[in-house]
Amino acid sequence: MADNFQVAELFSLQGKTALVTGGSSGLGLMMAKGLLQNGVRVIIASRRQEKCDEALRELSAYGEVFALAADMTKAEGRSRLTTFVTEKFGELGILINNAGANWGSTLEDFPDEAFAKVMDINLNAVFSLSRDCIPLLTKAAAEEDPARIINIGSMDGIHVPIVSRVGTFAYVASKAGLHQLTKALAVELAPKNITVNAVAPGFFESRMTDFVFEHYLKDIEDDCPLGRVGQPEEIVGIVAYLASRAGAYTNGAVIPVDGGTCVSKGKRDWME
Ligand SMILES: NC(=O)c1ccc[n+]([C@@H]2O[C@H](COP(=O)([O-])OP(=O)(O)OC[C@H]3O[C@@H](n4cnc5c(N)ncnc54)[C@H](OP(=O)(O)O)[C@@H]3O)[C@@H](O)[C@H]2O)c1
Repeated sequence: MADNFQVAELFSLQGKTALVTGGSSGLGLMMAKGLLQNGVRVIIASRRQEKCDEALRELSAYGEVFALAADMTKAEGRSRLTTFVTEKFGELGILINNAGANWGSTLEDFPDEAFAKVMDINLNAVFSLSRDCIPLLTKAAAEEDPARIINIGSMDGIHVPIVSRVGTFAYVASKAGLHQLTKALAVELAPKNITVNAVAPGFFESRMTDFVFEHYLKDIEDDCPLGRVGQPEEIVGIVAYLASRAGAYTNGAVIPVDGGTCVSKGKRDWME
C-alpha cells in the first residue's frame, strides 16, 4: 500500500500527456497552462489556425506544447488530430473534451440549425472523439494509473440557468446529455483502465461569457452563494485532481465547480 500522501506526489502529473480540445482560449487555455506548468506534455486543438498560433506562443513558455487547427465536429478533423497525437506522443494519458459553444434566443426564434450545431460540438463530438481516442488512451492506461477522460460539462446541465433570462435550450440539453454520457462511458471503459469524469463549471471569464459578464455580472454574482465568478486556479485544481493519483478512483462523477450556484435558488430579499 502506498504511504506517500504528500500533495506534491499525490497530485503529481509529471511526464503525462494530454490533449485539450478548445485549448486556444478560455477554460481550455487555463487548463493547458496548468498542465504544462506541472510537467505534462500538451496538445491543444481548435478550429482557427490564428487562435492556435496565438495560444501556442503564450503556452510555449511553460513547457512542451503542440497545436493543431481541427474541427471536432468533423470526422476529418478528428482523424487528423488522432494522427497528430500518435506522431507526437504515441499514446494519450489525459483527454480533456472542452471545446464547446452556446446559443441564446427566445424559444419562438430558436433555429433548428443552431440547436443542432450546439448539440454537435458539445455532445456528439465528445462521443466521437472519445471513441476515436480509445486506442491511444489504452496505450497509456495502467491499473495503478488509469488514463483519464475529463469532460467539461456545465452547471447548466444540472440546473436551469436564470441569469439574463435568455433561453439556452440546446446548451442545457447538450450538457445534461454530456453528464449522462460521462457516466455511461465510465462504466464501459473502466475495464480498460480508463476513467471518465465531468467537471460542471459555473461562470468563468472567457469569450463565451464576455457578453453576459458585461451585462449581467451582478446577477451572476447574486446567483452564486459565494458571490463571485470562478478563478483559473479553481478549474485547473479540479483537473489536476482528476488527472493525478489522487483522482484515480474517481470514476463516473460529475463535479460542480460553481461556488454552490447549482444547489442554490439565488439571492433572496430576506438575505439583504
Ligand atoms: N466560461 C464559462 O463560464 C463556462 C461555464 C461552464 C462550462 N463552460 C464550458 O467550458 C468549455 C470552454 O468554454 P469557454 O468558456 O472557455 O469558451 P471559449 O473561450 O469560447 O472557448 C471555446 C473553445 O472551443 C473551441 N471550439 C469551438 N467549436 C469548436 C469545434 N467545432 N472544434 C474544435 N474546437 C472548437 C474554440 O476555438 P475555435 O472557435 O477556434 O474553434 C475555443 O478554443 C465549453 O465546453 C463550455 O461549455 C464554460
